[in-house]
Amino acid sequence: MASRKLGRSVAVVGVGMSKFGAFPGLASRDLFVKAFKELRSSVDKGFDPNDIEALYLGNYSSDLFEGQGHNAPCMADWIGLAPRPATRVEDACASGGVALRQGILAIASGMYDVVLVGGIEKMTDLPTSQVTDALATASDVLYEIPAGFTFPGFYAAMATAYMHRYGAPQEAFMQVGLKNHENGALNEKAQFGTTIRQVMDGKIAKAKAKGKPVPTWADEMAFLHDERANPVIAWPMRLFDCSPISDGAAVLLLVSEEIAKRFSQDPLYIIGTGQASDVALHDREDLTTLKAARIAGQQAYEMAGVTPEDIKVVEVHDCFTIAELIATEDLGFFKPGEAYAAVEEGLTTRIGPRPVNTSGGLKSKGHPVGASGIGQAVEIWKQLRGEAGERQVTGDLNLGMTHNVGGTGQTCVVHIFERR
Ligand code: COA
Repeated sequence: MASRKLGRSVAVVGVGMSKFGAFPGLASRDLFVKAFKELRSSVDKGFDPNDIEALYLGNYSSDLFEGQGHNAPCMADWIGLAPRPATRVEDACASGGVALRQGILAIASGMYDVVLVGGIEKMTDLPTSQVTDALATASDVLYEIPAGFTFPGFYAAMATAYMHRYGAPQEAFMQVGLKNHENGALNEKAQFGTTIRQVMDGKIAKAKAKGKPVPTWADEMAFLHDERANPVIAWPMRLFDCSPISDGAAVLLLVSEEIAKRFSQDPLYIIGTGQASDVALHDREDLTTLKAARIAGQQAYEMAGVTPEDIKVVEVHDCFTIAELIATEDLGFFKPGEAYAAVEEGLTTRIGPRPVNTSGGLKSKGHPVGASGIGQAVEIWKQLRGEAGERQVTGDLNLGMTHNVGGTGQTCVVHIFERR
């Protein structure tokens, strides 16, 4: 397919997000308001919310999680946007990233100049078994649920195929979790703001305080190998290979390039967008790659006129640790079958040559599914503008990327951001 161009350029001029975590007593609208308030103070030169012409809201299933359908106008109402058009976008865990793309297309078409895009999910009101069932409806329910699959199971199947084909050890998955917790520990918005060493030390202290037998893990890898501390969820995916069940909201303010400097001296320009779909997992020939991610990535690179080598920071969709390895291969950062060794060598840490998921990723920051794609863009904003605090990647960061996956990869959406 020929490379596509946007009708006109689009910039991000403000971002906001709630903390990700479990917030009993707060509805998704409360989290959305928190994210929007933060966005208001992030716009360098300020702005009038009345200038917002439309809202695109990524949300997977407020219907199943909260019993609230039709939630885009509800969010618009709570931040005073009515009567402007408010549209919900649903593409499973890629809902946020696809809402961002819809906002970009709406501005690029010339329809609007100022658009709010957001993502929201409030998952923790239900018990885990019901959340698991709700998430499973993002698969092919006719064929895959009767076969016994849930999401940890799908990604376990991918992990097993990856191990079988490339000889990757389980320790490579554990290294992804270790790295993402290291990063998340430096992110005040993260659900798990703790390193795995801190989790270990906490459990040791708790055992001592209760007069129970004190665990004697030699190091983090010993902890992660302990079946009690890190139980198998769906082999080879264990607890610390899974993203958690989360609540959270995130928003971005998009404007057309011509007016961006009215809002900020330092906007980020969206220079590449790509999106593709794929057949359900059970129909795929290869479980070690997501074809939709490869196509979406290629589209974004071609539109931006850049290559994987040019990207300085990337947030990828690590709903399970195996997904991060596959993502970094699909996006061309590593050759097929080489990502696991790259992680073991530390290449994807904050100080490595290819920083991946500096926010902590979905694993540690949390995965309120409809908000995750927008939360990724918030991290790229912070990194490219030098506002990421202790987790700031050093060097001349001009290009960042987000990679957001829906379901088992039936949807994938990729964006490239530039700081000029
Ligand atoms: N990683 C690390 N620790 C986790 C965790 C995770 N993903 N999820 C929960 N925990 C911790 C809790 O903090 C708690 O710790 P504590 O005992 O020290 O307080 C403990 O594990 C038990 O928490 P609980 O909430 O009871 O866990 P759970 O068994 O109900 O849920 C999972 C664990 C892995 C099943 C759940 O997080 C899950 O389903 N994750 C995947 C979500 C998903 O599929 N998303 C869509 C992806 S496409």
